[in-house]
Amino acid sequence: MAANRTFTMIKPDAFEAGNTGAILKMIEEAGFKIVAMKATQLTPAIAGKFYEVHKERPFYADLCTYMSSGPIIAAILEKDNAVEDYRNLIGATNPANAAEGTIRKIFAKSIEANAVHGSDSDENAEIEGSFFFSQFERIG
Ligand code: CMP
Repeated sequence: MAANRTFTMIKPDAFEAGNTGAILKMIEEAGFKIVAMKATQLTPAIAGKFYEVHKERPFYADLCTYMSSGPIIAAILEKDNAVEDYRNLIGATNPANAAEGTIRKIFAKSIEANAVHGSDSDENAEIEGSFFFSQFERIG
């Protein structure tokens, strides 16, 4: 995956609330191109593997339960400076601290049910994109 790609999930709270279309609209209007996308549902074990980096954190078990509680959208997004620009678009992890107009400020319900995930580095964007998509499922 090129350095100008990032990985996102629309999480179960936002999917269940019917906010997928509105969030994808914000993503496209911010200049991101969707280069891979699917709807799926994680098992607790797969959610645990995806968030393994957080396994020592007190919220890890709840996070795995929550992330496997309903369908999600997984997608790879392309744009210059994708990782940083996408984190600016989604806002702070805790929606209480997210800037006005960001995806989490508008759609997130709590620090856990925070509407979307966004990769925090180019390296993790590659790892996370590869977790969900083979090279044949991506555009380019
Ligand atoms: P995300 O950006 O997907 O990365 C880790 C996730 O853990 C985070 O969003 C939240 O959904 C969840 N989480 C729950 N509690 C916390 C917390 N106290 N600090 C950070 N992340 C948390």
